[in-house]
Amino acid sequence: MAIVSVVVAIIVVIAAVVSEEIIKYIGQWLIENMVKPVGQLLIEKLVKPIGQWLGYLFHYSSNIENMKEQVKKLRDVRERVPLPHSVEAGTRNIEEIETDVNKWLENADLIMGKAKEVIEDEEKSKMRSSYAICLNLKHRHQQSKKAKKIVQDINEVLENWRSDKVFHMDYLNFGSRMLTVKRLMVALGDANFNMIGVWGMPGVGKTTLVREVARQVKEEKLFDEVAIATVTQSPNLIKIQGEIADKLDLKLDKETSSGRADLLRVRLTKDIEKKILVILDDIWEKLDLNEIGIPRTGCKVVLTSRNRDVLSSEMGTQKDFGLEVLPKGAWCLFEKLSGDSLVDSNLRSKAIEVSTACAGLPLALVTVAKALKNKCLFEWEDALQKLRRPATRNQKRMQEVIYSAIKLSYNHLESPELKSFFLFCAQNQVFSSIDYQDLLKKCFGLRLFHGISTLEEARNRTYTLVRSLKDSGLLLDAPDTDHRFRMHDLTHDVALLISYETQNVLIMRDEGLVEWPDEDDMKMCTSIFVYKRDIHEFPDRLECPELSCLNVHAKDREGSFKILDTFFKGMRKLKVLDLTYMGLSSLPSSLKLLTNLQTLCLDQCVLGDIAMIGELKNLEILSLIHSEFKQLPREIGFLTHLRMLDLSNCKKLQVIPANVLSRLILLEELYVGNSFTQWEVEGLNNERASLAEVKHLSRLSTLEVQIPDVNMMPKDLLFEKLKRYKIFIGDVWDWPDKHEGSRILMLKLNTCFQLDSGIKMLFNGIEDLCLDELNGVKSIVHQLDMKGFQQLKRLHVQNNAEIKYIIHSRGLVIDDVVFPALKIFSLKNMINLEGICDAQLPLTSFRDIRIMKVEHCEKLKFLFSSSIAKGLSQLQELEIKECNIMRAIVVKEDGELEDGDMILFPELWHLKLQVVPKLTSFLSTQNSFIIDAEKVIPKGELDFHMPILHEQVH
Ligand SMILES: *[C@@H]1O[C@H](CO)[C@@H](O)[C@H](O)[C@H]1NC(C)=O
Repeated sequence: MAIVSVVVAIIVVIAAVVSEEIIKYIGQWLIENMVKPVGQLLIEKLVKPIGQWLGYLFHYSSNIENMKEQVKKLRDVRERVPLPHSVEAGTRNIEEIETDVNKWLENADLIMGKAKEVIEDEEKSKMRSSYAICLNLKHRHQQSKKAKKIVQDINEVLENWRSDKVFHMDYLNFGSRMLTVKRLMVALGDANFNMIGVWGMPGVGKTTLVREVARQVKEEKLFDEVAIATVTQSPNLIKIQGEIADKLDLKLDKETSSGRADLLRVRLTKDIEKKILVILDDIWEKLDLNEIGIPRTGCKVVLTSRNRDVLSSEMGTQKDFGLEVLPKGAWCLFEKLSGDSLVDSNLRSKAIEVSTACAGLPLALVTVAKALKNKCLFEWEDALQKLRRPATRNQKRMQEVIYSAIKLSYNHLESPELKSFFLFCAQNQVFSSIDYQDLLKKCFGLRLFHGISTLEEARNRTYTLVRSLKDSGLLLDAPDTDHRFRMHDLTHDVALLISYETQNVLIMRDEGLVEWPDEDDMKMCTSIFVYKRDIHEFPDRLECPELSCLNVHAKDREGSFKILDTFFKGMRKLKVLDLTYMGLSSLPSSLKLLTNLQTLCLDQCVLGDIAMIGELKNLEILSLIHSEFKQLPREIGFLTHLRMLDLSNCKKLQVIPANVLSRLILLEELYVGNSFTQWEVEGLNNERASLAEVKHLSRLSTLEVQIPDVNMMPKDLLFEKLKRYKIFIGDVWDWPDKHEGSRILMLKLNTCFQLDSGIKMLFNGIEDLCLDELNGVKSIVHQLDMKGFQQLKRLHVQNNAEIKYIIHSRGLVIDDVVFPALKIFSLKNMINLEGICDAQLPLTSFRDIRIMKVEHCEKLKFLFSSSIAKGLSQLQELEIKECNIMRAIVVKEDGELEDGDMILFPELWHLKLQVVPKLTSFLSTQNSFIIDAEKVIPKGELDFHMPILHEQVH
């Protein structure tokens, strides 16, 4: 190997001074004279650098042109970035603050400077004669190489700008937040500190800061795993444990919190090598970490609180970081959020006053700036008046500012619908977030949306309204899930305050016993929410003639919740009834008086006799998710107005009687996921429901169902009307919550079931597809789908012995782009798979893949052809395991991969190769497969000097 390097070095030196003919000649000579198989290796090693060198010359003009193009793009973006220095009054501190925006700008300027040099040089050389250029080959080579490097740099810089890195810093970039992030990261790396605190007043940005820390420690690999849980004023251990376990992919299948704590503790200490960070956000009082299952040693913990004492004295943190309010320079943030609306100088100076009045509180700044965007002068003045309302003590003043800021933002919401929706969201935030589906059920029942006729429309409306509230800064994303969103604590408080002022709502949400207000107050009440209180019974009767929405979340479902037969008599206008986490052995007879009831949720309950529900003839939505009961009452079949039946996660449900579902002819959405599975085969004298009953539901647009045996499927079941589905067929699939998109099919067919029946219809527009066995299927494209799965985001194929190629052209030219949206692609136990594809694909196929995993594919010699590999610019994770004859990851096709464009997988950060004994090269030519070097790399000896990871990996 050493000799080779020396030869390479010499050749390169020679190459730099002699003409290209000679270089070509040397390459040729090497190819012809070296003895195989050593020759092969040498050619790989020698010809490449030379070729690359030549490549720069051949690509001289295109590289320069490319560069000019990119410089233009960068300049455009560069000009749109507001200059921190250009900010007016009240910004003295800003220069001191080292911001990422500044760094980004510096970097961009540096690159543009370099580009300028190259361009000037090129222009100069154009002036000279063409003969001179020939002589100056070496110089041109250098310039060309520079240009290429600049193009890469620019791409990187643009990417940085686009990714939320810069955008994310809305809060972080100001008031030395970044510095605190860095200091916190240093403390986390210090073995002396196990528990670290972050404190600061509400709205100052603690959560944003720790989430940024979580992001960075993961990115920098300081920790292997990071789990964040929100604690809140009244902590719920089960919920906190659940949040942590979710992040660690741990299933806590124990009921009690102590049982769950044991599981969690084992997981957090099990693997000493693994570094785990646990973040507990928003602690109000002393919290027993042991009770949650967080060990004192073994993992690091970051806590946030409004109160420093809670951290250092009560929790015993070893180091604390305080967050101050933003300095006046926060104007910069404010200006950025208000967009271009502040060109007018009057408006501008008023806006500066308003931003000052926000007292440096990021939450206030963000909400006010967003609310006043594009508003006129008098509105800014009005805002200023409100924000400047006097207050006595400093702390009070801060709160006053926040309240005014949020109220202001609320007042500026564009429609009454949006306003009432916002308040309703707040009323429904039980713990730290709100579930879309749950909210939809209630909004629909209350007729909160106008001009809506189907659930699908209502769902879309929900998404739209949530998005516009997020844009106003009044709602936030929930971490790690698309199913929920959240509201900042303070926004929540203010929203509830507005609710009290403007609506007759009763909300009892903190610890303690429930005390019902006196009769007069109750008479006015339109909505009641009781959360997490000690409540075990209702009064005999509540006289609430105006009540439309009653929500009660109890704390105990083991005992029996007492509801007397008379209870519902005084609330005939009730539209939505939600009783969660209760033991309900039976339902009171007065329930049937609720003729206006549209939505009934008995979620997470232990249910006895609920046949009474059948009396609610006008009911449109029935939700029994996570509840325990064995049999769905036959009487449910009377609910002929029902549009949604949600039986998700009713794990104990064994009987859905026959001919109940088929009578619900207006049903639009049916959820039976992780629930009833004992479907009967059609046509027999059935006790239980059969899937054939679904045929009667002509309006069904959403279906979630688990079908353990494909024979349970009627042959002529058509799914063409389904717009959303999650259908699992076969006995191998678990029912996880995380999926890509809203059209999901997991399919195992071990018999030669007719695929061209209803199932095949589902492939149209599918987003997430998992396949197992599938006897008789020889390729995915084009046997299953002719159109190349245009919307598919995830594909997993396992345990198949017949598929040779995932995409099998059968000699035809493939015109359609294949898998253009695919992000996650995995293959497992495909013992006859020889390749992903047997033909050339249109260029943009596979262009979006982020994660690729291949396991146990014994006939796979390589993973991608170079033409596919070139397009995988998004690939981030690649895992290859147990591929016994795999030689190379990428195989070079004729004419593909000019030496000038060698870079593959620019985004790849995770590469795992496990039991691939014959892998000798990352990139290889077809020819090299012919030489059968029997060399096997012994287990554990793969080191980074092997050619696999040498030079070919960028
Ligand atoms: C709801 O939104 C989806 C896209 O998000 C769209 O395809 C569908 O047509 C919409 N449905 C209705 C009824 O507006």
